[in-house]
Formats: sequence, structure tokens, C-alpha cells
Amino acid sequence: MSDAGGLPLEKASQHREQYLSLQRDSLRDPESFWAKIASQLVWHEKWNKVLLWDPPFAQWFVGGTLNASENAVDKHVKSWRKNKAAYLWEGENGERRTITYGEFHREVNRLASVFQNFGLRKGDTVAMYMPLVPEFPIAMLACARLGLPFTVVFSGFSATALAERIQDCQAKIVVTADGGYRRGKILELKTVVDDAVKESPSVKHVVVFRRTGHVVPMIEGRDHWWHELMAKASSYVAPVPVESTHLLYILYTSGTTGKPKGVAHSTGGYLVFAYATQEWVFDAKDDDVYWCTADIGWVTGHTYVVFAPLMHGLTSVIYEGALDYPRPDRWWEIVERYRVSILYTAPTAIRSLMRYGDDLPKQHHLDSLRILGSVGEPINPAAWQWYFDVIGHGRCPIVDTWWQTETGGIMISPSPRLGLVQLKAGSATFPLPGVEADVVDEKGNSLPPSEKGFLVIKRPWPGMFMTLYNDPERYRQVYWTRFPALYYPGDYAMRDAEGYFWLLGRADEVIKVAGHRLGTKEVEDALVSHPSVAEAAVAGKPDPIKGETIVAFVMLRKMAIPSNQLSEELKQHVRKMIGPIAIPESIYFARALPKTRSGKIMRRVIKAVAAGGQIGDLSTLEDDASVDEVRQAIEGLQTAEKTT
Ligand code: WT7
Repeated sequence: MSDAGGLPLEKASQHREQYLSLQRDSLRDPESFWAKIASQLVWHEKWNKVLLWDPPFAQWFVGGTLNASENAVDKHVKSWRKNKAAYLWEGENGERRTITYGEFHREVNRLASVFQNFGLRKGDTVAMYMPLVPEFPIAMLACARLGLPFTVVFSGFSATALAERIQDCQAKIVVTADGGYRRGKILELKTVVDDAVKESPSVKHVVVFRRTGHVVPMIEGRDHWWHELMAKASSYVAPVPVESTHLLYILYTSGTTGKPKGVAHSTGGYLVFAYATQEWVFDAKDDDVYWCTADIGWVTGHTYVVFAPLMHGLTSVIYEGALDYPRPDRWWEIVERYRVSILYTAPTAIRSLMRYGDDLPKQHHLDSLRILGSVGEPINPAAWQWYFDVIGHGRCPIVDTWWQTETGGIMISPSPRLGLVQLKAGSATFPLPGVEADVVDEKGNSLPPSEKGFLVIKRPWPGMFMTLYNDPERYRQVYWTRFPALYYPGDYAMRDAEGYFWLLGRADEVIKVAGHRLGTKEVEDALVSHPSVAEAAVAGKPDPIKGETIVAFVMLRKMAIPSNQLSEELKQHVRKMIGPIAIPESIYFARALPKTRSGKIMRRVIKAVAAGGQIGDLSTLEDDASVDEVRQAIEGLQTAEKTT
């Protein structure tokens, strides 16, 4: 077992008791607990009810009005922080910019003025498809300033996926860039937007930030250069106060059906939770340099690159590009250059950097670091130890943070601010204050220590999503029916004898590829939409770097013939339908897919065969197929033709 990350071991159990009693206290009267934190934000009108809980729908700080951009920027320009750096930005090509809170405020206001000039009003939606440049958070806050709910689509999604999201929320504006740099190449973002907008009549204007300067087609009347619009915009727009329950953003994420889920976050509750968790988990002070490496296209970036650090007036690093470009020590160079003190990243990144050995980090001064964070998937002990020893030099606690797009912010994590408990490699330790978590069996009964079950959250928390956009029924069904009155996140978990939580991966048909969430059904739908494919079954296969990769079993239509070329074509088809993040690593051509009598694909079988492992005891398969049928199906798969 590792040591406590700077904490003398003999003090560890004392700290645990201290932390747990604080945690218990928060649950005694959670409403006043959260109200106290909420009063640290700027409100126009104070709420008259902290929580309105009409299961499974929660409304936080009801009656209160506030504005997210006011809380994130206006607050600071009235103080010395006006000249403090909000962002230290580094482009992949070496360009650097420092943006102070004062400058940031001005840009947010000018873009809000641009949106106003387009005639956008509170409630209109905006989509973003951006590279990692400071204009990305600027655009998010400009929307928030006017009460325009936005949806960010990660730049690794295809035009088809972007169009689907734009159409679902009926975005009127798309904010993008001429491109962005990735491994020395230009990401053609504008062309993707053009293809997506072609099929999206709701979009009236496209705002294009000039990042690369290469030539991109601009459509007269629809497309506008960011800098030209900004030159004519006013530098102050009053923030529009919105209800606490006003939609701040929609973030689409994968579930168990083909259609992505629009996770809808509120303004008040979300901001309060983001504000509190940032402080508890990262314990940042004014002189810290904080770097959350996540792309803003994912929830980690929304909460911990944009809203939470800005509300706290922190200085954050944003790096545009690939972690190993031009050399695999790029990240360590950045930590050294900006004297990063808090680093928050994903296990997949840690594992890929670990692969390059200890010499590269050793060539850099990493002594500025004091807290290390991890998020996105369970962190394996080897990666944890390397992060702790080689990056943190054995002095930085690792905050392993469990949460989800739906939860809005961190739910289970050590808390250096409130009292650091002894760390255990691979455990996210304990729920944060105000969060009541449990591990339950199939029937929803709390499980004793060391038994694997399902993680549940037993009461609402402020960061909790309000619903699935335009689909409250699916919201209820996916998250609240499996265990009545308990929130079901879809994760396996276990508690050990000391009560530590161990998150054990997804319990549903969601795959985590390099920390990105993908639904098996989503990839299957993409494959089946190809004319040569009759049926497809997809599973995650364990991978030493990415955590999981995608394996696809495909049954072709009669006329189609298996070949490497067809396999490549199918991969390109998935890229076109979803994006490069969803491309299967391998495709097998099977004569038949293992199905139950009622026609359901036997997922456990697919998964086991994909992993190349043991199928396990066939007699316990709950699928309505006979053991023989399953055995035959397995043999069928195992003899399937693999292509590369
Ligand atoms: C799923 C949520 C939350 C931001 C990034 C991912 C897995 C996340 C951990 C962790 C074990 C983790 C869970 C969760 N997960 N953090 N520290 N330990 N598993 O957001 O795409 O919504 O995915 O990521 O399975 O349900 P997301």
C-alpha cells in the first residue's frame, strides 16, 4: 500500500475519522449546508427554496436569479485580479498568449454584443465546434451572459454527429474556427461545420475564429469572421440574470441506445456544485497555476477548465495540442515553463506518457507540482504509482475523482482542502460532503464491505443534471427506474473494510475508449448503416493504454465479401458517422452473431470473445438461450475472419 501522499501514516486513520464526521455532518442538514456555499456566489435575487425535490426531478435554489458569466468574470474585474492571468495558453505550434481577467471580460462582453446584434435572446441555443483556444471559453461565457444555452461538440466528432446535435437542440448559431493544430496537422473544423450546417436549417449564422489562417470557404451572409464582428461590437453588455434552473448548457453523451443523450445542466445548482468541488478537491490558492488537461468539449473541461476555476479567479493553463507533439515531453515542458502546481488529467494520458519511460519527466523541473488529479476511468495501480513517484516525486497527493457528465462535478474524491485521508492506489476514497453514495445489490440493498455491486447516489445534489433535453421520460427510465428513488450512474463499485469506494467500471453497454464514452449500440448503428452490413455487435476490449478499444463483429449482407479493404471501408464509415474516436480497432467478419431466441445479441459472449478471455460458466447465462446455442455461437465468433 502506498503512503498517504505527504501525510504521515500514523495520522491517517485520525484524518479519516475527521473527514468522515465532517461528511456526515453535511448530510444532516444538506439544504443549509448547500445554501451556505451558494451564498458565496453572486445572485441577483436570492432563492426562496434551496431544493424542490419532485423525484426524479430536482430544482435547486428555486426563485434565485444569477448569471454565470458575472460569477466567472465580472466578479474579478472589480478587484486586483483584473490583471491576473485567467488563462495561460499555448498553441501546439508554440504560440503563447496570456489572457488576464480584464481582457477576458472584455472579450466575453464583445462576443455577447455580437450575439445580441444577431438578434439572439435568452433561451436561444448556440452550438460550438472549437479547437482549444481561449476563444472557446470566451464563447461559452458570452452565451451564458445572455442566457443562451449552448452545446459544445468535441472536435473529434464527425459532421453527421455534429448535425445530429445541432438539430436536436435547434441551434441558431455555430461558433467554430478555421482550424486547429493537432500533431502538426490542421484539423479542418470549418469544413465539418459546413457539412453539418447544410442539413441543419435552424442555423442562421456561423462565427469563425481565425486560428490557423489557412484558406477556408466562407458563405456570404451566413459565415462571419470572429475578428470582424468583434471589431464592431461594444465592450460591455449587462449580464442577463436568469433563474437558477435556467438551462446553462446541454452536453451530449453516449448511452445504451444509438441516440446520444442531451444532458441538461442548470445554472445555479451546477455553478454552486462546481464552485464547492473545485475548492475541496484541488485546494487552489491565488498563487497556484492549475492545469486541467481535458478538452473543453467534454464535461471535465466545462466544469474544471471553464466555470469552476474562473469562479475562483484561478490561473489556468490551456494547451491546444497533442501530448506527445513534437516530442513526448511536451507536457513536462509545459509544467516546467508555467510552474504548474495542480495537474488534473486522465489515466489514459498517464499510461501513454509512462510508456516513454522515466527519463523524460526527469529532464524537467516538476517541483512546482503539489496536487495531481485523475479522472475518466478507474486508474490502475501501476499508473497511479508512476504518477505518484515519477511525476509527483512522492510528495503530491493524487486525487482520483469519480464523477460523470450527468453529475456536473466531482462526487467521490479525496479532499486536500477538507482533510486528506490516506490514499489507496485505485480508490477514489470517499464521497464529498453533501453526496450520499452507496453500493447496492441487484435489488437495491446496501452491500457489506468487499462485495461488488452497483454504485448509487441516494439524494439529489446541486450539480445534478435537470433532465435529458427534450426527453424527460428517458431521463427517468435510464437513471431512476433500476433502483427506485436511487440515482443509478451505471457503474460497478465496491467498498473495502475501511469504507473506501472502489469504482470498478461500467455496468452497462458503455465503452470507455481513452476515457471517452461511447455506446456499443451507437457504433453498431453506424456499422449497420453501411450497405454491406446486415448486423453488427460491438464490445470493448481491454487495452494497456486506452483502457478499452472497440472490437466489432460484423455479419455481411449476402452479396458482400469479407476483405481487408471492406474492413477499412467500414472503419472510414464509422469515422464519418460518429468520428475518429469511435473507429473499431479490429473488425471480425462472422457468419452469425450470438443471439438469444428473442433476438437479443448476447453481449456477455461478445465481450468475452472480444477480450479473448474465458467465457465463464455458461450455465449461469441469464440470456434465454441454451448452453449449446451459446457454445456454438462462441465457436462461430472465434473462427470469424479477422481483418486488420
Ligand atoms: C464515467 C463517466 C467525469 C468526467 C469524465 C468522464 C467513469 C469517471 C472515474 C474514476 C473510475 C471513473 C465512470 C463514469 N469514471 N471517473 N475516477 N474512477 N471510473 O465523464 O464521459 O460522463 O463518463 O466515467 O464509469 O460513469 P463521462
